[in-house]
Amino acid sequence: MLDLSTYLHERKKRIDEMLLHILEGPAGADRIKEAMRYCTLAAGKRIRPILCLAAIDALAGDSKTDAAVKVACALELIHTYSLIHDDLPAMDNDQLRRGKKTCHVAYDEATAILAGDALLTLAFQTLAEIHPRGEIRASILAEIIRTLSLAAGYRGMIAGQMLDIASEGVSLSLEDLEAMYRLKTGALFEASIQAGAVLAKADAEQSHKLLTYARSIGLAFQISDDILNIKGDPALTGKSTGTDALRQKSTYPSVVGIEKAEEKVKQLVHEALEALSGFDQRSDPLRAIAKFIIDRKR
Ligand code: IPE
Ligand code: IPE
Ligand code: MG
Ligand code: MG
Repeated sequence: MLDLSTYLHERKKRIDEMLLHILEGPAGADRIKEAMRYCTLAAGKRIRPILCLAAIDALAGDSKTDAAVKVACALELIHTYSLIHDDLPAMDNDQLRRGKKTCHVAYDEATAILAGDALLTLAFQTLAEIHPRGEIRASILAEIIRTLSLAAGYRGMIAGQMLDIASEGVSLSLEDLEAMYRLKTGALFEASIQAGAVLAKADAEQSHKLLTYARSIGLAFQISDDILNIKGDPALTGKSTGTDALRQKSTYPSVVGIEKAEEKVKQLVHEALEALSGFDQRSDPLRAIAKFIIDRKR
């Protein structure tokens, strides 16, 4: 039986050590570096980088190489940038993130914008600096860079964030809402799994199944985020509650109610597990992460 907490703890430790290395600098580092470290090294769950490593494990690849962990960290750098910008006054205007003051509150707005820009850029620098030797060929690296840039870009996460902002005060159909979630959150979940699949040289059938898994949990994760915005405990989520309603966001629970939203999360997790049915016990971490989404408290 897989002990998920040990698995997550080990992978998270490896990711955190690499993030520290990527973001290391001389003592008394400059303000921008300090802001980047403040946000990135805070208490994030590291779900996206762990998913990437778990996909590699599911495919019997080696998730312990520096190259794999660097790819995973690039995902976390992109994600952290997206959170900093998502919290800005012009976006969700949030004060609390990862249990601490948001970047623009702890520093200032200009620093937060620049810290986000810098983390996004650093993600691609980190990928480009992976030495294309034995562990990872140049063509694989290029494919990963393409995958991450598409997911983070204007046809992916940015498109979703645009829709999210435009939806304030508007009631969206369930269809439009799902399309928005698949972009703003789903795209990076899919890229996390895809990057792992590319690294572990998945065949077309394996990639397809893993992508189905990622699509389902990406949507489930955003719906559960919206449920936590209503009934979560800020001491556990590290974020304020009630802010979606305050800003009249169209969310899954606001459209169909909390109970139906919770049912939808369960259904999506079930679909994710079905997609993994052809995989052996090496995909248990992916299964455990999917189940965690059902009643996560953070
Ligand atoms: C929060 O993501 C933003 C969403 C896309 C829902 P996480 O819940 O993964 O945030 P951290 O990384 O643990 O802080
Ligand atoms: C976050 O969506 C999506 C991105 C950061 C791309 P939300 O705005 O719903 O996430 P939280 O609740 O602030 O973490
Ligand atoms: Mg938002
Ligand atoms: Mg937000």
